[in-house]
Amino acid sequence: MSAGRLSLAEAEQLVAERLGATPRAAHSRFVGLLLQHLAVELGADAGLWRLVGLVHDLDYFAVDGDWSRHGVLAADWLQGRLPPEALAAIAAHDHRTGIESTTPLAQCLRLADGLAVLDEATGRDATLAALGAGAIEHIVASRPFLVAIIAGTAARQGLDLATLGAILAALPRQAQP
Ligand SMILES: [Fe+2]
Repeated sequence: MSAGRLSLAEAEQLVAERLGATPRAAHSRFVGLLLQHLAVELGADAGLWRLVGLVHDLDYFAVDGDWSRHGVLAADWLQGRLPPEALAAIAAHDHRTGIESTTPLAQCLRLADGLAVLDEATGRDATLAALGAGAIEHIVASRPFLVAIIAGTAARQGLDLATLGAILAALPRQAQP
């Protein structure tokens, strides 16, 4: 790879190389789009946030089940190609590493990741209905932790659930598992 900030084309190529034609690659692209729209909403760097979403799970198969390294290895691979704040967000996106980052980008990566999981597991219609009504507790099923990740983080970032719904409604539907 060339030096300087990762381009969108390079990020797409890395996803194709590392994740192949898997649901994890589709999830990564979806999280990239969600983060891009969250950045627009928050007045952040939409191009950078999209890249971070796109590459956040690059090491998903490479860590071979050692989730304490998940995101940390990806951030390592991307040293020098993304700003430190972006690398920290990737390294901290999975709670199993024990790494934390409190920047808006890191928080919103976890939010987007959680919202993508909820949308995929629950289905778009039920997810939009819940977001529009302002409560998701009743649709998280076996994933109660998603309430804090999605609703808690949104509140801290000054985003209401209806805004998340409007963003989600504009994105292509994910394949159901
Ligand atoms: Fe992940």
